[in-house]
Amino acid sequence: MKDQAIIRPMDRADLSDLLVIEGEDGWTRDNFVQAELVLHAKTVVVDIDELAVSFMTIRYDRPCIEILNCGTRRSYQRKGHARRLIEELIRNLRTETSFHAIKAVCGVENFEFRGLMQACGIHEIHAPVKGYYEDGTDGVLFCLTKESRQPSR
Ligand SMILES: CC(C)(COP(=O)(O)OP(=O)(O)OC[C@H]1O[C@@H](n2cnc3c(N)ncnc32)[C@H](O)[C@@H]1OP(=O)(O)O)[C@@H](O)C(=O)NCCC(=O)NCCS
Repeated sequence: MKDQAIIRPMDRADLSDLLVIEGEDGWTRDNFVQAELVLHAKTVVVDIDELAVSFMTIRYDRPCIEILNCGTRRSYQRKGHARRLIEELIRNLRTETSFHAIKAVCGVENFEFRGLMQACGIHEIHAPVKGYYEDGTDGVLFCLTKESRQPSR
């Protein structure tokens, strides 16, 4: 059906769409390939009419499910696509017995991602960590445990 959003695993043909989402300063083709081959991460995409409009790269690193990266194509932002990906991850957390928490990190000035985490009930667990990133930027850590309560919408 036209305009229907489907969540599915990424395939190599999606890489060009993901590189558009990432732009010049984001992940490169090598970053996506390395995440898959070296970190054994999985990337899922939101597909609308065969265009990958949003993605999330996740590493299953017992006992944590770690969000390594996510992004939504600019013209598709604020339509709930990233939220749907995270809600699916939270459902996985609730059903997977060997995983206990979802964790993520972002730069202190990434207010989009911080807003997304807050909207999905994934809490900031630490004061900003000084110099977390190689370029000296501070990082904010997020965590949602199995027992955490979800916000009502
Ligand atoms: C962060 C990002 C992935 C969100 O994607 P999205 O598909 O637009 O997010 P959603 O539409 O699902 O947003 C869900 C909620 O998150 C919050 N949110 C999303 N974007 C936000 C923004 N720019 N500012 C503040 N809060 C925001 C809101 O509460 C939003 O709900 P609302 O639209 O009903 O107010 C997107 O802004 C993006 O690609 N940013 C650049 C890449 C990036 O920073 N990635 C994270 C790397 S760690």
